[in-house]
Parts: sequence; C-alpha cells; structure tokens
Amino acid sequence: MENTSHASPLRDLPWKIVWITGASTGIGREVALQLAARGVKVAVSARSVDKLEGMGGLVKAYPLDVTDVKAVRDTIAKIEIELGPIDMALMAAGAYAPIDITAFEPEPFAHMMQVNFLGVVNCISGLLPIMGKRRAGRIAWIASVAGYRGLPKAAGYGPTKAALINLAESLKPELDSIGIKISVVNPGFVETPMTKGNDFPMPFLMKPEDAARRTIEGLARGKFEVAYPTRFVTILKIARVLPYSLYFWLIKRAVL
Ligand SMILES: NC(=O)c1ccc[n+]([C@@H]2O[C@H](COP(=O)([O-])OP(=O)(O)OC[C@H]3O[C@@H](n4cnc5c(N)ncnc54)[C@H](OP(=O)(O)O)[C@@H]3O)[C@@H](O)[C@H]2O)c1
Repeated sequence: MENTSHASPLRDLPWKIVWITGASTGIGREVALQLAARGVKVAVSARSVDKLEGMGGLVKAYPLDVTDVKAVRDTIAKIEIELGPIDMALMAAGAYAPIDITAFEPEPFAHMMQVNFLGVVNCISGLLPIMGKRRAGRIAWIASVAGYRGLPKAAGYGPTKAALINLAESLKPELDSIGIKISVVNPGFVETPMTKGNDFPMPFLMKPEDAARRTIEGLARGKFEVAYPTRFVTILKIARVLPYSLYFWLIKRAVL
C-alpha cells in the first residue's frame, strides 16, 4: 500500500491545476490535501468558508454553493484567471439524508437532487465551454455504489447517485469526441461527516485517506469508473444483475 505521508513527485500526476467541490470535509478535502502534497495547485470549493482556509500554500479557497449556477460559472472564471487552466475538476459536493417512510416528504428528495445531481450539472455547464475550446480536460464526479441498485433508506440519495452514473455514461461518448474526459467515482462506505450519523452496519468501511488515494490513482490512470473498495464493489455489481425476486429476498435478510 502506498504511504501517503511521503509526497510523490509531480511527474506522477497528469494535472497542474485541479478544482474540487465539496472540499471542506471528507473525501473532497482529503483528495485536495493529497494532491497538494504532490505539488498540484488545488482550488477548493464548498459553502463553509472557514473550513476551506489554511489547507496549505498550494490550496486556494473559492467558497461556493453548487446549487447557484451563476456562482459556479463566476468561480470557474475566477480560478482560470487566478490559477490558470483547470486540468481536472472533481465534483465531490454532496448531501445525504435517510428517508423515513413514516414521515415521507418531498423536501429531502428535492434537496439531494439539487445538490448531488444538479450541482454537478451546474459545474459541467461552466466547464464544458472552456475545456471544449481547449479540447482538453477531465471532469470527474463522485456518485456512489448506492447508485447501482435501490437500497433501503436510500430512496432519496440513491436516485441522485444512479442519475450521476447515468449522466457519466450518457456524456462520455460525445465528450470523448471533443477531447474532454469523463470519470465517475463510486465509493463504498467512507468514514466522513456524511456517514457519522448512520445507525446501521457499514460493511468494508474505509478511511477518507484511503478513499482519496484510490480516487487520485484511478483518475490519474484515466479510468472511466473509479470504484472501491474492490470486494464490496464486486458484491454489489453481482447484486446488480440478480433478478428482482432474489435481490429483494437478499436485501430483506441483509438490511431490514
Ligand atoms: N462517505 C461515504 O460513505 C460516501 C460513499 C459514496 C459516495 N459519497 C459521496 O462522496 C462525496 C463526498 O462525501 P463525503 O463522504 O466526503 O461527505 P462530507 O464530508 O459530508 O462532504 C460533503 C461536502 O459537500 C459540501 N457541500 C454540501 N452541500 C454543498 C453545496 N450546496 N454547495 C457546495 N458544497 C456543498 C460540504 O461542504 P459545506 O457543507 O461546507 O458546503 C462538504 O465539503 C459526496 O458526493 C457523497 O455523496 C460518500
């Protein structure tokens, strides 16, 4: 296993300037810190201004709410002026709330779709014109293994992640043809503020440092899908092709 405490040389990584949303905590923050430790200039965005400050000399804060498309576009323009052309953008901003069927309201569904899905769409809309003009760049977003198939309590979150996986599949062929690379990152459970309140077992729970290292490695290798941890992903990919009768039988036994 790579020792992330030792900075690797910049020549390992194909990017000089990376923009990361959702970088105030969790996976996004850890990716930013690891990239900066390897000599990459990182523009970090999230709503919490204070948490974006003091992340090191190569990390610059660009506070932002990804649901505000004008702010997204203005931020991209500002980063390009202040730091230079964005080689890679990683959209990690996300929200999660379990759905309780005894208090079923549309609001959490709308909120998660707004942040998780439309937040990414907003960022893509700002990046496509500039990367398209350069015929270069990688746009990556964090979906989740929860997007592979419907899971209990995830009726609000899961569809946003399924939509993000589908979005990546839909855009990849055409964007390839104009020189823009797309990647979708599908983590299993990672120990971050997002999963802190979970009151159910989280199999194969990973540390954010490992998730970030796997994310960076996969993206640097130019993979379309970066999914981890391998054993959990394999189990869930097999579950994806099971017939409904068997899938629901297994899910009821495993989760409910
Ligand atoms: N942890 C897991 O087990 C897991 C598994 C699979 C996928 N994921 C996905 O990985 C990504 C990162 O999650 P995480 O686990 O690292 O959670 P996290 O620590 O809660 O990070 C979420 C990030 O999103 C930002 N954010 C939320 N709403 C935003 C908005 N409207 N505009 C801009 N930024 C916003 C948060 O910062 P502010 O509150 O400061 O804005 C924070 O930086 C998410 O997309 C999540 O769905 C997580």
